Amino acid sequence: MRDKIADVSSIITSFQIKDLNQLETFRIQFLGSKSDIKTLFGELKTVPNEEKKSIGKELNDLRIQAEEKFATYKDQLESKPETSESIDFSKTGESFSVGSHHPISLVRSEIIEIFNRIGFIVSEGPEIEDDWHNFSALNFPPEHPARDMQDTFFIEKGEKEMALRTHTSSVQVRVMENQQPPIRTISPGRVYRNEAISARAHCFFHQVEGLYIDKNVSFADLKQTLLYFAKEMFGDKAQIRLRPSYFPFTEPSAEVDVSCSICNAKGCNVCKNTGWLEILGCGMVDPNVLEAAGIDSKTYTGYAFGMGIERITQLKYKVNDLRLYSENDVRFLKQFTPSF
Ligand code: DAH
Repeated sequence: MRDKIADVSSIITSFQIKDLNQLETFRIQFLGSKSDIKTLFGELKTVPNEEKKSIGKELNDLRIQAEEKFATYKDQLESKPETSESIDFSKTGESFSVGSHHPISLVRSEIIEIFNRIGFIVSEGPEIEDDWHNFSALNFPPEHPARDMQDTFFIEKGEKEMALRTHTSSVQVRVMENQQPPIRTISPGRVYRNEAISARAHCFFHQVEGLYIDKNVSFADLKQTLLYFAKEMFGDKAQIRLRPSYFPFTEPSAEVDVSCSICNAKGCNVCKNTGWLEILGCGMVDPNVLEAAGIDSKTYTGYAFGMGIERITQLKYKVNDLRLYSENDVRFLKQFTPSF
């Protein structure tokens, strides 16, 4: 019996395994149900009792030797880079899983592309802002309620009191301070407000600010640009309507509604049966804002607008709860996986 074990052991050692076929032959010969080792185990009952224990151990070691050799070669062969002979070009491709873009990123990119096509370039600014860029330069009176602790997250930064920006309008000021007209820019970014989190409100969200300043820019230019945007974003049938409104930094100001793309303006629960949905605020840049940033308001006029990306995404993808955007639930995110 001992001789047989030694024989099998030396055959295992010298067995050549160069490809997966030889590996399979090895497996059948030494580890399969009719293998040499199995046969030897079967013969164990003929061994005298006093030797059973030690021979049993040797047999076990033999099995381990075969298993280890098999595992080593299996790893090696399966990870071996394929050569042109071993590649089967007629085989169908294996599908692999792809990740998805966050819906906010998708819509942000789409908004940027739409405005890029008519000459707007992207500019960005910091999320931690000073009072000047977030409020004062935008013509907010010192006692304006939006500066109140309820809406704004204030933070201490050294001596200076700073705030998390409450809107991307702060970037308009930075652009105007650094550049003379013509200016045609959009500024996407994250903004913060001190709000209780619910399906309809969140303490952070995303906006895109737009700004166009040149000689003779009129309200008609603003309307046409926004109509172009609505049609590109929501389809050719989209219409817009403007309602008079108030913002400290624009005069006149308006809020813009787009015809409800969910019910084709017939009336549904999303548009509360009005056929219209509010998508942005806009207006002609107040001369005080131009002057505060060093632009001559007698020579130049301009328009500005600001929209919430979450809001546009909600309309485009019918997302009805703002919290979904930041919960990282893969069941939600997976729905935005591109199909190839
Ligand atoms: N900053 C405003 C907000 O956060 C949105 C806005 C309205 C931006 C009118 C503008 C504008 O540029 O002209 O609600």
